[in-house]
Amino acid sequence: MRAADIQDDLSQILVTEEEIIAKLDELATQVAADYEGKELLLVGVLKGAVMVMADFARALPFHAPMDWMAVSSYGTSTKSSGVVQIRKDLDSDLNGKHVLIVEDIIDSGLTLSWLLENFGSRGAESIEVLALLRKPEAAKVEIDCKYVGFDIPNEFVVGYGLDYAERYRNLRDVAVLAPHVYA
Ligand code: XMP
Ligand code: MG
Repeated sequence: MRAADIQDDLSQILVTEEEIIAKLDELATQVAADYEGKELLLVGVLKGAVMVMADFARALPFHAPMDWMAVSSYGTSTKSSGVVQIRKDLDSDLNGKHVLIVEDIIDSGLTLSWLLENFGSRGAESIEVLALLRKPEAAKVEIDCKYVGFDIPNEFVVGYGLDYAERYRNLRDVAVLAPHVYA
C-alpha cells in the first residue's frame, strides 16, 4: 500500500509522534520518582502497547524488566466484545512485585478491568496502569489509571501500535481511521 493511499484512510492526525515522545518522557519522570528504590516490572499488553513500551521504557532512568501478556477482546471489528481470552500468559511470577501495566488505550475499559482482576489474584505488591490514550466517553467500567497520556474523543484510532485488522500499527502518529475504511 502506498503512503498516499494510507493517508486517504485517515481522517485526522490526533497526536503526533513528537507529542507522544514528550508525554512519555514526562510520565517516565513521574514513574521514576514514584518507584524510586522499588523493583518495577513493566507488563505490556500485546500487540498494541509495543511502541508505547519501547519509548516509555527507554525514557526510564533505571532497570525495568519487561514482561508481556497477549489477550484478545477485539477480533477485526472496532468494538470491544468484553470477552477476554489469554493468548499468551506472563513469563514472570507477580508475587511481591510492583507491576506497571503498559497499555496503548483504554476504550470501554473492559480488557483492563479483567486484567486487573486477574493480576490481583497473583500476589503482586502493587499494580498500577499506564495508558497512552483514554476515551472517557467510551468508558463502560471505571479504571483507576494512574498515568494517562492523552484523553481523546470517542473515535476509532490507529497508529503507534494501534491497528485495524493488523494494519496501520507502524504509523508514527495516532490518527482517526476514516469511517469509509470499516463502514
Ligand atoms: P477496551 O474497550 O477493552 O479496549 O478498553 C481494549 C483494547 O482494544 C483495542 N482498542 C483499539 N484499537 N483503535 C485501535 O486500534 C481504537 O480506537 C481502540 N480502542 C480499543 C486496544 O488494543 C485496547 O487495548
Ligand atoms: Mg491493547
